[in-house]
Amino acid sequence: MSEIIGIGLLGLGNVGSGLVELISTNREHIQDRADVNFKILHAVVKDLNKVRQSNGIELSTTPDKLLAEDDVKIVVELLGGVDPAFEWVSKSLKSGKHVVTANKSLIAEYGDELLKIAADNNVRLLYEASVGGGIPLIRTIQDGLIANEIESVTGIVNGTTNYILTKMEEENLGYAEALKLAQAAGFAEPDPTLDVNGADVAQKLSILCRLAFSTHYDSTKIPCQGVDILTQDDISVAEEFGYRIKMIAHAEILNGGHDLWVEPALIPSDHPLANVRNENNALLVYGNAVGELMFYGKGAGRLPTASAVLSDVIEIAIASPLHTDMVERKRIGISELRSSNFYVRLPILDKPGVIGKITTVLGEHQISISHASAAIRKNGDSGFGQVRIITHAVDPAKLNLALKEIKGFPEMSGEPVALRILEVNGDRRN
Ligand SMILES: NC(=O)c1ccc[n+]([C@@H]2O[C@H](COP(=O)([O-])OP(=O)(O)OC[C@H]3O[C@@H](n4cnc5c(N)ncnc54)[C@H](OP(=O)(O)O)[C@@H]3O)[C@@H](O)[C@H]2O)c1
Repeated sequence: MSEIIGIGLLGLGNVGSGLVELISTNREHIQDRADVNFKILHAVVKDLNKVRQSNGIELSTTPDKLLAEDDVKIVVELLGGVDPAFEWVSKSLKSGKHVVTANKSLIAEYGDELLKIAADNNVRLLYEASVGGGIPLIRTIQDGLIANEIESVTGIVNGTTNYILTKMEEENLGYAEALKLAQAAGFAEPDPTLDVNGADVAQKLSILCRLAFSTHYDSTKIPCQGVDILTQDDISVAEEFGYRIKMIAHAEILNGGHDLWVEPALIPSDHPLANVRNENNALLVYGNAVGELMFYGKGAGRLPTASAVLSDVIEIAIASPLHTDMVERKRIGISELRSSNFYVRLPILDKPGVIGKITTVLGEHQISISHASAAIRKNGDSGFGQVRIITHAVDPAKLNLALKEIKGFPEMSGEPVALRILEVNGDRRN
């Protein structure tokens, strides 16, 4: 009979209650496979009066008791945000407890600092659920692909935006309607800002860069564009040209730096990421020995996320406490962005010569056009519409300069939108 390992929870919300359920449902199975057994001794919550299934777990609103309890060997942080998570996780590590967290904000911002505290105190800090929810990405990159130089990671790592884009595409909805649907289905928060503006994806990409390239990037410095700029028109024009729009996180070794970006991009409809629908996530990882691998599955949800959290807890219970990913981070910069084909949408007023003026500016910046179309709606004597262009490969900096110039035209009726068209990895390497 295996020893019972005590767990303390910081947070007993969605994922916390999923973890309680999973430990109870799969107890025998986990004992058979890993010969470990757990008991959740204590949980810290904000509101003691909230109705919840706490399965007899002792609750409190501060971590003092949990930290003082010798039998709590592993602390699982499921609070979200950095305050008070950073303070409570630091204290747990300093008091000799291993920590598991699902908190991408905490790891993206304070990962190195916390890993150092863990190493100094001879305990472990694991964070499998912080990227890709239930998909076992982190340990796979860290351990399974250790023999490879990782050349690139590209993927869909935010279920909310993927759900919104799927609904825009499949049900012909506008952005605002699709967002409402995502909120009603529980896939978007009441305040969805961090999901739709790309900040959540940038935090996850920062964590992936730490693992894949041993490099730390401040997530707020990663070039980032949200999905809130998209219209139904962008989705249908992309479709006309044979593409789907997906919120992509991309990092790749390029010219001694990293090509790094987060934005909605056009991807060919036969690309492996094009068929990742609804709240699912997928990541393509290119290793120099293994080639391209794809990981796909539920990127969120109480049980999928609890599955990743519990895998970390079991890993700590069965493995050596000395294993750590506290390696020295390299200082590599963000490289010049790679040239790429772009989809450009220009909202215009229907004035004579406007299309000519646009193509002249693009020509002056050596931007050549592969496809173009325009749709004008007349309203009495005036009219407005959209010019849509697919460019040949262009340096993003040049395109930005051209769009800045075009934006100043009196014939423009709104902001230009430029979306990158993702290449298929295999094409680039052949
Ligand atoms: N939900 C997912 O699908 C998912 C997927 C991947 C990663 N994650 C990550 O997992 C973590 C937890 O997510 P969740 O969805 O479970 O969040 P949640 O449902 O909002 O639960 C948060 C829990 O933390 C407690 N809490 C928050 N602030 C507190 C404070 N200042 N003092 C004491 N207790 C506090 C809350 O107490 P009350 O219950 O009293 O309010 C609640 O029990 C987050 O880092 C999230 O990013 C979640």
